[in-house]
Amino acid sequence: MRRPFIAGNWKMNTTKADAVALASALASGINADANADVAVCPPGVYLDAVVAAVSGSAVAVGAQNMHHEASGAYTGELSGGMLQDIGCTYVILGHSERRHVFGESSSDVNKKVHTALALGLKPIVCVGELLEEREAGKTADVNSEQLYGSLAGVTAEQMANVTLAYEPVWAIGTGKVATPEQAEAVHADIRKFLAYRYNDEVANSVRIQYGGSVKPGNANELLSQPNIDGALVGGAALSAESFLGIIAAA
Ligand code: PGA
Repeated sequence: MRRPFIAGNWKMNTTKADAVALASALASGINADANADVAVCPPGVYLDAVVAAVSGSAVAVGAQNMHHEASGAYTGELSGGMLQDIGCTYVILGHSERRHVFGESSSDVNKKVHTALALGLKPIVCVGELLEEREAGKTADVNSEQLYGSLAGVTAEQMANVTLAYEPVWAIGTGKVATPEQAEAVHADIRKFLAYRYNDEVANSVRIQYGGSVKPGNANELLSQPNIDGALVGGAALSAESFLGIIAAA
């Protein structure tokens, strides 16, 4: 049985005061016996303050991105070691905005995945197709290219620390949620990929989150699909009430 995993991606939003208030509200609002793992991924500059705000609670903290190198002349970047140093547990890698706005390839994502795993950070590896790719019947091809490329060289044992997130790009921030059937079909395909690429144990244990306009009102239907094990939430993660509503649906 896979334990649901709900993560909030705050993207480039909030002030420091808002970030701490939101994190504190989640830390105190979440039941210790909640039937889900929960993480928040604030902007990098607020990670430290959010780690402090959720300390001792059931809320873990993740970063939204990292550089694959340990240190050096990479102006503006954060290393995995820095994230680990301040208490991050997770790191989102290959989010569609990193892939499509910042031009990251699956091979870039792959380098980061290896660095994160070597450091003991748990990557949330995102994949998903654009609307034109879906309309051209390329959904399966695009997702399998992103999965193969992003997970190249990652062993079956390492997959115990990896979460996957399927985020159809056309559903992110658009209010256009994939139907539970559309999402479940891709999640089932991803699980088949894991069985083929690794083995049944990996396929049965890796958690696959759905992301793209998840809200308290649609979370229950999405999360009740057999292959949807959680959610990566953007907009609705910016309010404690709606994020706690999604956690309650899990
Ligand atoms: P959204 O974003 O929930 O605002 O659609 C999801 C994501 O980008 O992870």
